[in-house]
Amino acid sequence: MSCLDEIKTMTLKLLKKIFSNSLNEYYSKEEINTLFHILIEFYLGINKINYIQDPLYIISKKNISLIESKIKMIQKKIPIQYIIGEVEHKNIKFKVNKYVLIPRPETIELCDWIIFNQKNKCKILDIGTGSGLIALILKKYITGSIVHAWDKSPLILKIAKENALKNNIEINFKIVDILKNVKVNDKFDIIVSNPPYVDKSEMQFIDESIVKYEPHSAIFVEGNDNLIFYKKIIQYSKDALNSNGTLYLECHIDRINFVKNILKINNFKNIKIKEDLFGRKRMIKACI
Ligand SMILES: C[S@@+](CC[C@H](N)C(=O)[O-])C[C@H]1O[C@@H](n2cnc3c(N)ncnc32)[C@H](O)[C@@H]1O
Repeated sequence: MSCLDEIKTMTLKLLKKIFSNSLNEYYSKEEINTLFHILIEFYLGINKINYIQDPLYIISKKNISLIESKIKMIQKKIPIQYIIGEVEHKNIKFKVNKYVLIPRPETIELCDWIIFNQKNKCKILDIGTGSGLIALILKKYITGSIVHAWDKSPLILKIAKENALKNNIEINFKIVDILKNVKVNDKFDIIVSNPPYVDKSEMQFIDESIVKYEPHSAIFVEGNDNLIFYKKIIQYSKDALNSNGTLYLECHIDRINFVKNILKINNFKNIKIKEDLFGRKRMIKACI
C-alpha cells in the first residue's frame, strides 16, 4: 500500500482490490471481505448495499490513508474489535480496548440461557465483568433486575462503567478480587461468571492475536490450579446465593466435568450442562 502515497483518489472497488491484495497472505477471502466491510462501514459510513449500488464511488486521499493505517494494524493481527474500539451485541454498544476481553459468542449464549430461564425480576452478580458484557445484557433483558458487577482492576471497571453510562444501563460496579477472601454482605438470586480458565501452559495452542493483544489477566490463570476461579466462585456462591438461587458459569470444554464435580461436592443441585451452537459443552448452571 505504500504506492498509495502518490494516489489522490480511487474508486471503492479499487480500494477493495488493494485491501485484499495487502491481506491475502494473512487471511482467507471471506475474512478479508468481512474486515473490509466492517472498516468501510465504521470509518466511511459505506454499508454493503451502498458498495453494491456504487462500487465506483470515489474515496478521498484522506480516507485512503485512513484505511491504509488500519490495514497495517490488521497485518499485525490486531483484532478488528480493538482497531475500531467497539462491538455491538443485543443492541448494546460496548467500547473495548486492551484492558478488556473481546466479547465471545458463547458468552452471549450464556446470557441468552439466563434470560430464557429467568422470567421474574431478580438480583444478579456478575463476577469478572470485563467490558460489562454479561451485566449489561442481563440488566437490559431481565426486566426489573438489579445487577452488580465486579472486577479486580479500576482500569477494567472504567471501561465497564463507560459502557453502562453510554447505553443508559444502571449497574452497581465494585472493585473486588474474588481470589481474596470476600465477605458476604449481600445476597443474590443469580451469580454468573465467565472467569479466566486457560492454563499458562496452554498458551502455545492459543491464537497468536489473542496472546499478543487480549488481556492475559482475563484469559490465563496464574499458578498451577486452573480451577481456582471456579473453586472460589462456587465457595462464595454457596453463601451469597439466596435459597433457590442459581449459579451460571462459562467453562473450558475440557474442564466442565471437573466444575460439575466441584458443584456436587458443594451440595449444589439441578446441575445442567449446556452446549454452545457448535455443540461444545461450555456452560453449566446449578442451584443451591
Ligand atoms: C474471561 S474474562 C470475562 C469478561 C466478561 N465477563 C466477558 O465475558 O466478556 C474474565 C474477567 O475476570 C476478571 N478477573 C481476573 N481475575 C480476577 C479476580 N481475581 N477477581 C475478579 N475478577 C477477576 C478479568 O479482569 C476479566 O475481566
